[in-house]
Amino acid sequence: MRIAVFCSGNGTNLQAIIDAAKREFIKADLALVVADNAEAYALVRAKKANIQTFVLAKKGFKTREEYDKEVIKKLEEEKIDLIVLAGFMRLLSSYFVNKYKNRILNIHPALLPSFKGTHGIKDALHYGVKVTGPTVHFVDEGLDSGPIILQEVVEVKSDDTEETLAERIHKKEHVIYPKAIKWFVEGKLKVNGRQVLIR
Ligand code: GRF
Repeated sequence: MRIAVFCSGNGTNLQAIIDAAKREFIKADLALVVADNAEAYALVRAKKANIQTFVLAKKGFKTREEYDKEVIKKLEEEKIDLIVLAGFMRLLSSYFVNKYKNRILNIHPALLPSFKGTHGIKDALHYGVKVTGPTVHFVDEGLDSGPIILQEVVEVKSDDTEETLAERIHKKEHVIYPKAIKWFVEGKLKVNGRQVLIR
């Protein structure tokens, strides 16, 4: 199986996935890292791990679909089977999502369906929840709304700042994302409506 990981930033989840593939916890080829900006530190991590990179800035594309079609060209060239979004800050078009139906994973730093969107950690903290934590899910056409594969609980402490809470959430992300990818690669996940069955 050939995997492409999509990133926009630091890429700590990418790093966890690279490490998991290296120790053969995930038995698949990390064939490609896609980024929407050339500054993403994730690209440095990819290069260090000898993974091919593909950077495509959104500038010059009129619609999301036009951009996505260009990315898909590359994915098809590289015969990618699974797409892993790891801090990729762009919404995929319906065209993309339908083309790779049930073959796109995402990680979100809150317990979905709570606190969707780009500020999942801050929003949970400000809301005053006592527990939060990351969610791995399949991507559908909505925002952070696809069927849930795996979640992990992180307690919120009374003296937590966004930074301290984020640190604990990220630690859990780095455990559950490789695990969910491993399950996918081993054919253990079956989507049945909103339910994901793990065999
Ligand atoms: C993670 O918190 C993830 O939940 C969210 O984006 C962040 C990416 O972090 N989707 P990193 O680039 O993997 O360090």
